[in-house]
Amino acid sequence: MNLSTIGVIGAGTMGNGIAQICAVAGLQVTMVDVSDATVARGLSTIAGSLDRLVKKGKLNAADRDAALARIRTATEYVQLVPADLVIEAATENLEIKRSILQRTDEMLRPGSILATNTSSISITTLAAAIAHPERFIGMHFFNPVPLMPLVELIPGLRTGEATRARAAEFIGALGKTAITVKNAPGFAVNRILCPMINEAIFALQDGVASAADIDAGMKLGCNHPIGPLALADLIGLDTLLSIMEVFQRDFGDPKYRPAPLLRELVAAGRLGRKSGQGFFSYR
Ligand SMILES: NC(=O)c1ccc[n+]([C@@H]2O[C@H](COP(=O)([O-])OP(=O)(O)OC[C@H]3O[C@@H](n4cnc5c(N)ncnc54)[C@H](O)[C@@H]3O)[C@@H](O)[C@H]2O)c1
Repeated sequence: MNLSTIGVIGAGTMGNGIAQICAVAGLQVTMVDVSDATVARGLSTIAGSLDRLVKKGKLNAADRDAALARIRTATEYVQLVPADLVIEAATENLEIKRSILQRTDEMLRPGSILATNTSSISITTLAAAIAHPERFIGMHFFNPVPLMPLVELIPGLRTGEATRARAAEFIGALGKTAITVKNAPGFAVNRILCPMINEAIFALQDGVASAADIDAGMKLGCNHPIGPLALADLIGLDTLLSIMEVFQRDFGDPKYRPAPLLRELVAAGRLGRKSGQGFFSYR
């Protein structure tokens, strides 16, 4: 592995998944979040996920214990200094990401790579916040990270080719497939996927069918493995809303306006699986 010490910023849905696969691959991981409670929650999600893999016979107990032992948690960014690669997977918000990337870029060693797992924010825009844009790249994992084989690599205008090549080698060594995608809102997959999910929410809001029937329709009629509303719950409705807002602003096209029902559910704190309730209940 060309990059062996990994920092992950954000211990939520994506951050803890990324930390998990890196640790299982034998890498040293430091996972940073804003509080002891959020890093503890992320670590307990990883422990639960590894336990499930052991129960399914996909991982042995010794490898689970070794993977967990390779993950350190922290609330201080200074713990990221030794990292060869830092992957930012914090809340989908431009100002939060700008400030995290600026602070991290300042402290990383020369030769380290800084990546963001953003779903929709321009890599070139984020790169403008840091002093070393040549070592910065979009590294977009899919949810759930341990199961989904794809990673989109998104070089910004000033990303170096060496950074892209090292990132691609890293993704390959994790056993995932990288595709290189142009820096455009939503990159390739979310540009297609998120408007489809948003349309499913409009259909629900318009009373076209029930949530269960909309999902059954897309599974049985289009051979999708999961319905769009269940997928929205998995992604997180707040994250989906942020993505649609970026699309609406950056494309300047009203066809990307978020469904009002999506806004309402987010305002009510119904964020999907992570809050126990979204279009469906997980309690
Ligand atoms: N959820 C998905 O399906 C999905 C898929 C691909 C990419 N993404 C992207 O991954 C990123 C994270 O999304 P998520 O779904 O894991 O969100 P999440 O809400 O589950 O977790 C975000 C985490 O970031 C932490 N955080 C916020 N500010 C921070 C800071 N300053 N320093 C450290 N940690 C901070 C929060 O406390 C939280 O634990 C977003 O950019 C999102 O667009 C999400």
